[in-house]
Amino acid sequence: MPANVTIQPSGHTFVLQDHETLLEGALREGYGLPYGCRSGACGTCKGQLVSGRVDLGEYQASALTSEDVAAGKALFCLTRALSDVVVEARMVVGVKDVVVRKLPVRVEAIDRINHDVAVLRLKLPATEKFNFLPGQYIDFLMPDGKRRSFSLASVPGENAMLELHIRHYPGGNFSRYVFEELKPRTILRIEGPLGTFFLREDSDKPIIFMAGATGFAPIKGIIEQALAQGVTRPMVLYWGARTLRDLYMAELAGSWQAAHSNFTFIPVLSEPLPEDHWPGRTGLVHEAILADFSDLSGYQVYACGAPVMVDAGQRSFTQTRGLPIEEFYSDPFTVSVDASKAAPVA
Ligand SMILES: Cc1cc2nc3c(=O)[nH]c(=O)nc-3n(C[C@H](O)[C@H](O)[C@H](O)COP(=O)(O)OP(=O)(O)OC[C@H]3O[C@@H](n4cnc5c(N)ncnc54)[C@H](O)[C@@H]3O)c2cc1C
Ligand code: FES
Repeated sequence: MPANVTIQPSGHTFVLQDHETLLEGALREGYGLPYGCRSGACGTCKGQLVSGRVDLGEYQASALTSEDVAAGKALFCLTRALSDVVVEARMVVGVKDVVVRKLPVRVEAIDRINHDVAVLRLKLPATEKFNFLPGQYIDFLMPDGKRRSFSLASVPGENAMLELHIRHYPGGNFSRYVFEELKPRTILRIEGPLGTFFLREDSDKPIIFMAGATGFAPIKGIIEQALAQGVTRPMVLYWGARTLRDLYMAELAGSWQAAHSNFTFIPVLSEPLPEDHWPGRTGLVHEAILADFSDLSGYQVYACGAPVMVDAGQRSFTQTRGLPIEEFYSDPFTVSVDASKAAPVA
């Protein structure tokens, strides 16, 4: 039976259809709730149940702990209503006018930029408009019905071209295909833009970006847009990687620093090789940020990359450096789940 959903404190209400999760219903109605993976893995969509009965779905314990469940929390990307419900959630402004669509795209170029990252450039159909916010992601819709998520590394309007940074995950179906079989001019199907990882422009707080490996991709888009728009907020990019070759666009980040006095680039290597002759920062990237900032209460942090890094950053910045939880924005790169588990939004 359809259920009535009320979102507090905004007071928005809508009717949830039988097959829909709370997130799907809210997005269909144009109400922006925060989300990332849409599969119960990243925790970005976590919110509070105030009243009503729900089915929490099949979530990962790392995204929703037993303490969370006991405290009445739920992952709205999986939660289905069994009665009318009232929930508490932060609303995201800015995504209302972004239309999620399925489109064919043509592969323009596949550049192997280092040993395990390929930069993929995709051409959109000339007749189609694809508006997105830098930092959002797309899903590749694979012929077998599975889908794979990858972040947009470009900004809208770049010759109708989308840029993606694909890491070659050992045993990964899609990334192996990109590295071993994919040819220019191949037509792929995508759905997007998705997610709520983008710059909150209604703030003047200084920004810390924390990227791990290909977590640089969406952050690249956000920074390029911010610099092009003349954003004057101080911005620091910490980009963590294992060795020097893993910082696959370090020169680009260095060029931003050279051209913009409000932008700083701090590369951090966790396992530099002797031949790297690395004179810079070492260790884990979130620890470098902790070492540099004793108080993050006046900052915004944007983090993207391996879930373990994002999680460590969120916990330590909020618990030991006073970062307000609502000022931590992230897209953890969780392993994709099959389309059968992640129902498409809209
Ligand atoms: C919102 C979002 C945005 C993303 N953006 C990017 C991006 O811009 N660039 C990028 O490189 N990745 C990104 N990812 C991660 C990517 O979608 C997943 O890693 C995906 O599973 C890779 O697909 P695959 O078919 O190559 O591997 P799969 O077939 O899904 O995985 C098979 C095996 O590969 C290994 N593997 C796959 N992914 C990972 C991982 N993330 N960490 C560790 N081991 C893994 C595991 O052993 C896994 O069992 C993003 C994920 C999300 C949720
Ligand atoms: S856990 Fe719901 S969006 Fe990732």
